[in-house]
Amino acid sequence: MMDFILLGPPGAGKGTQAKLMVDKWNIPQVSTGDILRAAVREGKALGVEAKGFMDRGELVPDRVVIGIIAERLREEDAADGFILDGFPRTIPQAEALQEILDDHGRNIGYVISIEVDDEELVTRLTGRRMCKGCGESFHIVFNPSAEEGVCDRCSGELYQRDDDMEETIRRRLAVYSEQTQPLIAYYEKQGNLRRIDGTGSIEDIFARILEAAGN
Ligand code: AP5
Ligand code: MG
Ligand code: ZN
Repeated sequence: MMDFILLGPPGAGKGTQAKLMVDKWNIPQVSTGDILRAAVREGKALGVEAKGFMDRGELVPDRVVIGIIAERLREEDAADGFILDGFPRTIPQAEALQEILDDHGRNIGYVISIEVDDEELVTRLTGRRMCKGCGESFHIVFNPSAEEGVCDRCSGELYQRDDDMEETIRRRLAVYSEQTQPLIAYYEKQGNLRRIDGTGSIEDIFARILEAAGN
């Protein structure tokens, strides 16, 4: 059983690396951001509640995302492991996750912290294009799709996220350092944190993750 947390600022490559981990280990990526964006798109009550926070680059309330995760981790495909992408993002979320895992009699294997500096993150996010179908991330310069506007993986339509405007990106980065960065020390204390240099090619970073995970 393999349970991972991908920790890292907006644009660090959590989604990009999660997709490679899914292919390698055949365990699901659980991205609270993707789940919330789907709820917005489908006009669900959850989406209506979350959208304002997301557009401002703020965190959605803990209670909301904890509920999403509690439900998602009960699904059958998560029984043999999962990759948490973008959760937890606050200490209360981390504590709630621990309780959920205790209930299932399981434990986090590795917490992988992907480190990239702020200027690089802004460049990555302003050039990002995301797939409406499968959530795959592309970049107009660093990781372009074969055909412009079309996903390589599922042929879905690519779009620019509403929160990928420079001003909102800066807010998200500030929110990360205030509210999420403390989790690095939290998991370091628990002994399962692995820090990864998040710069270089996508393949290089994936190789660092495999190494950190003992593969
Ligand atoms: P979420 O969707 O999780 O956004 P995020 O954390 O801001 O992270 P991103 O998805 O922007 O970045 P990423 O690390 O996945 O990078 P990617 O692989 O795409 O959350 C969105 C919002 O939802 C939050 O602001 C909040 O409102 C809400 N939310 C979600 N979870 C929540 C929670 N737990 N609690 C409360 N609220 C929550 O890569 C980025 C770009 O870089 C792409 O263009 C990619 O192609 C490119 N790239 C990737 N790797 C490389 C590389 N090695 N070199 C060059 N470019 C690269
Ligand atoms: Mg992402
Ligand atoms: Zn796709």
